[in-house]
Amino acid sequence: MTMRTITIDKAPLSVGEEITLRGWLYSKRSSGKIIFLQLRDGTGVIQGVLTEPDAPKLFAAADRLTRETSLIVTGTVREDRRAPSGCELQLIDFTVVHEPTAPFPIDLTEHTPGFLMDHRHLWMRTGRQVPILRIRDAVFRAVRSFFYEHGFVATEAPILTGTSVEGTTTLFTVDYFGEDAYLGQSGQLYLEATAMALGKVYWIGPVFRAEKSKTRKHLTEFWMAEAEMAYCDHTENLHLQEKLVAYIVEAVVQERREELALLKRDVDRLVEEVSLPFPRVDYAAAIELLQNNGHEISFGDDFGAPHEAFLGDHFGKPVFIERLPTSMKPFYMKRDPADPARVLAADLIAPEGYGELIGGSQRADSLEELHSQLAENHLSPEPYEWYLDLRRYGSVPHSGFGLGVARMIAWICGVPHIRETIPFARQINRLYP
Ligand code: 4AD
Ligand code: MG
Repeated sequence: MTMRTITIDKAPLSVGEEITLRGWLYSKRSSGKIIFLQLRDGTGVIQGVLTEPDAPKLFAAADRLTRETSLIVTGTVREDRRAPSGCELQLIDFTVVHEPTAPFPIDLTEHTPGFLMDHRHLWMRTGRQVPILRIRDAVFRAVRSFFYEHGFVATEAPILTGTSVEGTTTLFTVDYFGEDAYLGQSGQLYLEATAMALGKVYWIGPVFRAEKSKTRKHLTEFWMAEAEMAYCDHTENLHLQEKLVAYIVEAVVQERREELALLKRDVDRLVEEVSLPFPRVDYAAAIELLQNNGHEISFGDDFGAPHEAFLGDHFGKPVFIERLPTSMKPFYMKRDPADPARVLAADLIAPEGYGELIGGSQRADSLEELHSQLAENHLSPEPYEWYLDLRRYGSVPHSGFGLGVARMIAWICGVPHIRETIPFARQINRLYP
């Protein structure tokens, strides 16, 4: 009889059966004549149990195993209410696939963040890292389902570009056959073009910012989920954003309950935070609120981390700060017709100090507006001619936004630093591994 090979997450469905698992030895402990092997395979961790009198030779072999040995095990799944997965494995046999050539560098106690990040390729096998990366997968899938269900077309923006979107100070320059090219800071301008062809579009793509900020919320390479919609105004834009955020949280909570439990995330709080609608607060009112609560900030200032933390706490859920000062924002945003010192834009600030989750706006849709706004931002119109064409041929009111995927994951997982939410973080001082 051939043994059924399953993954650890499916073990609870196989109680009483003999099964085969393929994975790695996560940890090991023994007490006298009984040995406990924690086995992992990426889908979960299960405890394998072996007693010496039952199989003395196998017991001796198990006793010699070192951490991260890859191995194939067979055994009988037994119910065990104390185990997180509800079951354990009575070992029958195992074969070693590869024995590590040195002790595994990540012991399961304490390391400095620097050491862990230097060993990211190995660190990711341990502890909280697997649940976080599985939640990341669920977030990506939720974003795609949401947009698919709402009639959006998936599209792409190029990474190599000839212009800036979000200002010229955070551009990475690369040599493009003797000319300067830049790594894309946002797919937005290109999505505006595809939206004029396809109506409603989105992508999840990598974007690059030469951010000199060394904070827990900044990476130099990160993934953005961006949407762009023809015939959509500022109000409709916010409405879609809040629905997306609630949808992602609800999908992840449903699909990844076990991982969230391993991370000790307060799921009830998270679900409460995404009850709709999210508050909309005028930027001027937000400044006043901050001032009245002892913060030093004035009209025209960007929010810093303490301001974002205060706003998130004050409202207890994500909050839109809208009608931002024109001076704070990039060239492409549409001015508020009621007050040209403001733009029809909003930042969505997360609760619990996770910072800005989304930046979005209605876009300037006339040639005249864009020409003068490019000039105000000291940008030459030449490389933007293709973008200006979108305002020459059937321009329509349109809006869009970009969601920072890493910050979204950090908030959902309750992890303080976004470097843990991406397999290989790129930061001002990190290009290895
Ligand atoms: O607010 P941002 O800069 O907006 C844009 O780039 C627009 N062009 C998007 C659009 O309208 N299509 O960036 C969007 C989001 C931020 O709200 C934040 O969550 C995240 O991207 N973000 C970062 N995440 C990690 N590291 C960084 N350095 C980030 N910079 C922005
Ligand atoms: Mg922003």
